[in-house]
Amino acid sequence: MNQETLLPAQQLPMQNMNGQVDGDGQADGGEGEADGDENEYGATGIDVLEGLEAVRKRPAMYVGDTSSSGLHHLIWEVVDNSVDEAMAGHCDKIDVTIHRDGSCQVVDNGRGIPTDMHESGRPAAEVVFTKLHAGGKFKTGAYVMSGGLHGVGISVVNALSEKLEAEIRRNGSIYKLSFSDGGMLAKPMQQAGRDDTSYQDYDDDPQGPMSAPTGTSVRFWPDPEIFEDTAFKAQTVKERLRIMSFLNKGLQIRFRDLRVPSRMAAHLEATDGMEDYLEDDLELDGLDQEFMSDDISETAEADTLAV
Ligand SMILES: Nc1ncnc2c1ncn2[C@@H]1O[C@H](COP(=O)(O)OP(=O)(O)OP(=O)(O)O)[C@@H](O)[C@H]1O
Ligand SMILES: [Mg+2]
Repeated sequence: MNQETLLPAQQLPMQNMNGQVDGDGQADGGEGEADGDENEYGATGIDVLEGLEAVRKRPAMYVGDTSSSGLHHLIWEVVDNSVDEAMAGHCDKIDVTIHRDGSCQVVDNGRGIPTDMHESGRPAAEVVFTKLHAGGKFKTGAYVMSGGLHGVGISVVNALSEKLEAEIRRNGSIYKLSFSDGGMLAKPMQQAGRDDTSYQDYDDDPQGPMSAPTGTSVRFWPDPEIFEDTAFKAQTVKERLRIMSFLNKGLQIRFRDLRVPSRMAAHLEATDGMEDYLEDDLELDGLDQEFMSDDISETAEADTLAV
């Protein structure tokens, strides 16, 4: 290291744009502009965005963009969490509903997001909805295998929603909590009665995930301040859910678009998983003998995808 590199910054000869050193150590910038710029870009120019504020400031980093693709990404995040419950062996039913008011609700019959007190002093459910990188998939135990791994998905959905309501069935109780304006806690977690939850929408439906003693419901209203258009496209959602059902053998996924009740309802269940996909979409009948593992081809008699 030579002497020059040890000089304090103020003592270093300054160069102008042409690389010429100024006699008084000042670069020619006219009226001392260089100094002014330097002072402007100091510690005060460094912002630290806390928590969900960062997501709202740069949504594209988390959901790709703020157009239709980013909007639908919100649904994928919530559904992926339910699918992770299925992969962990705790869930076999997922309902996805687009409501008339434009919100999307995902209900599963998994274990339910934990509701007990987290070491931070808040219920675990409040933590996972409001803290980035909080989740149960960092260590093995709760999930041996999962699609999710960053602990950000559900808090990103919350951050980019003008409202979010969660209902958790666990320990024989129903817990409810809600958020508004990009993840601000509107109602802290509390026990709720059946009448105060989505149960009323499901009371006549003993087959759905809501009839199970445990599970999670997440309903969110995407924020129009973030997304160019907040209208979900039924066909896009249905296509994605169809693929999820192919990838998760035996998982029943139901989709309803209540904006057009009679026209768009689907029951997606690929009893044979990927084999159904190959036969159904690619019309590759008979592939099982050559390419399928014994495990899968054993169930070849079962029914195929019902849409
Ligand atoms: N439907 C659900 N059922 C049970 N637990 C859930 C459910 N949804 C979320 N969780 C819990 O909340 C945690 C946080 O979910 P989140 O989607 O934010 O992160 P992740 O799934 O761990 O990772 P990723 O950011 O990749 O999605 C999960 O790890 C899981 O412990
Ligand atoms: Mg997730």
